[in-house]
Amino acid sequence: MIDQIQQHKQDFESRIGQVSTPEHLKQLRTDFLGKKGCVTETLKAMRGLPPEEKRAVGKHVNQLKAHVESRIKEKTAELAGQSQGQGAGAFDATLPGRQGPPGTLHPITQVMDEIIAVFSSLGFEVAEGPEIESDYYNFEALNMPKDHPARDMQDTFYIEGETVLRTHTSPVQIHVMEKRQPPLRIIAPGKVYRCDSDITHTPMFHQIEGLMIDRHISFSDLKGVMNIFVQQVFGENTPVRFRPSFFPFTCPSAEVDIQCVMCTGKGCRVCSQTGWLEILGAGMVDPAVFAGVNYDPEKWTGFAFGMGIERIAMLKYGIHDIRLFFENDLRFLQQF
Ligand code: DAH
Repeated sequence: MIDQIQQHKQDFESRIGQVSTPEHLKQLRTDFLGKKGCVTETLKAMRGLPPEEKRAVGKHVNQLKAHVESRIKEKTAELAGQSQGQGAGAFDATLPGRQGPPGTLHPITQVMDEIIAVFSSLGFEVAEGPEIESDYYNFEALNMPKDHPARDMQDTFYIEGETVLRTHTSPVQIHVMEKRQPPLRIIAPGKVYRCDSDITHTPMFHQIEGLMIDRHISFSDLKGVMNIFVQQVFGENTPVRFRPSFFPFTCPSAEVDIQCVMCTGKGCRVCSQTGWLEILGAGMVDPAVFAGVNYDPEKWTGFAFGMGIERIAMLKYGIHDIRLFFENDLRFLQQF
């Protein structure tokens, strides 16, 4: 019987050497370890043997069984490794990866980019400034000394002492004027902060500030630039009007209105029955601001303007609640 076992082992070795598919391997396993397999048959045949012989034969059969099992395990792994280069479950490193769904720009970014493009085409450069500002840049240099009543218009977040979160992008004007000499044409987009929250206010929102300084800049230049901006962003035939207003850093100052985009001037809830919507503040740079940055007001004149991007986006797309911009609900964001 021991000879027979040796023979089985040799057979097994020669057969496994030829196995090239998982099906062949399965068949080989059945032939040796299956119910009617030769290892199983040998174990059964051992029952009738006397105890001495049984022990000796048993040792050999168990060795054969362990050998067959371990070789089959090895071969299984070998075949699995090979299949990775070919066949059904193959991994092809040259295939392009699966693409995630592409995102889209946030509507505020889209409107911001659109406004920047309009002013860029008119020769304005983009400037940036810090979001954490000193009292000096946010107020003082913009002609709002301590206790100036206009400071109340801006619900300021104080960080500590003289440091604030900027309440508007106007301080960027001062940074630019301190560093450069006229002529200047800049816009300053960015985040601003105010302690205010309701359907039309969020504690953080975006503004774009504009500044143009040169010799002989007049209010009519301001009107011309504002008209182009409105036509490009709200449409060619959008009526515009300038209303007298007050800002400490401009004189004279104005607020720019466009005809209500909801009711086309007839009067509705959005425009409080006036037929007009305010979109920005503007004016001629106050000589007191020039004095603070050592520009000669006899030589240079300029205009400035500032607008809230969320407000422009709300009017452009007919959005009634500013908070929608910041809730990150994809059903809202995917519409843009
Ligand atoms: N900074 C003003 C605000 O946040 C907006 C503004 C008004 C900016 C008039 C200007 C301007 O440059 O001339 O309310």
